[in-house]
Amino acid sequence: MYAPGESYEECRATADWLLSSTQVRPTVGIVCGSGMGGLAEMLKDPQVIKYSDIPNFPRSTVHGHAGQLVFGTLKGKPCVCMQGRFHLYEGYPVQKITLPMRVFKFMGVETIFLTNAAGGLNQDYKVGDIMILKDHINMPGFAGNNPLVGPNDDRFGVRFPCMSDAYDRELRQLAQEVASELGYSDFLQEGVYVMLGGPSFETIAECRMLHKMGADAVGMSTIHEVIVARHAGMRCFALSLISNRVVMDYDSQEKANHEEVLEAGRLRAEQLQKLVSSMVARLEHNNNNNSF
Ligand code: HPA
Repeated sequence: MYAPGESYEECRATADWLLSSTQVRPTVGIVCGSGMGGLAEMLKDPQVIKYSDIPNFPRSTVHGHAGQLVFGTLKGKPCVCMQGRFHLYEGYPVQKITLPMRVFKFMGVETIFLTNAAGGLNQDYKVGDIMILKDHINMPGFAGNNPLVGPNDDRFGVRFPCMSDAYDRELRQLAQEVASELGYSDFLQEGVYVMLGGPSFETIAECRMLHKMGADAVGMSTIHEVIVARHAGMRCFALSLISNRVVMDYDSQEKANHEEVLEAGRLRAEQLQKLVSSMVARLEHNNNNNSF
């Protein structure tokens, strides 16, 4: 049994409600991370729908997240943008916070771009670097908190989806090409993102462990959305904006805080938006996409 509001039929009803509220038929979905809501402001002829007005949708509670869907076109491509996402630490079940991915799929979305702010674990990373996600480590998943836990409706996707190709290779290559053309190569990285539940930031010992485990950046989002999007057969591309370097040294006086996360977003917002919009401009139609 799916929880109320999360069944196949209810996700479809939410998508149909949205499609009847807008003329846009999105093929691209964008999820804006903390301090990166400006991406949604790039959409032409924007149409805004508040989460609180959408049947079955959770509400966004985080400072720096607007809490609305924005429909419009980006470089001529029909898009839907989540201006504000949902996190485990807000107290929602993981199945609820990933519901928008299934709604996106029902609306016709083929490719999803996700952004987040993350702490740099890799010692070569600097504040303001942009990291392309090559792979992830789903820490809540290790403890059984995976969005696909529970009964599997095969109409959404298979019971045991593959995750070795979670982050689309062609899109990662396209990002490298576009970044090089824009002159962004100096601050572009590619690495592994690890997700923790939050909301407390990591201890020094936890950061040391995560780094040893093979992660380059740590955050509190994105992975659960990618898992559900891949389960539904959508292509995923994700970027982390390195908003701080995590503390790994017991002598350090530095302290992670949410304000620096938002500040890093403000500093790099323009370049991050340019990178994403230039990639969207070059997207090919994905012929392999099968709708539910
Ligand atoms: N840790 C976890 N999440 C984050 C961080 C961090 O250091 N920075 C931005 N999001």
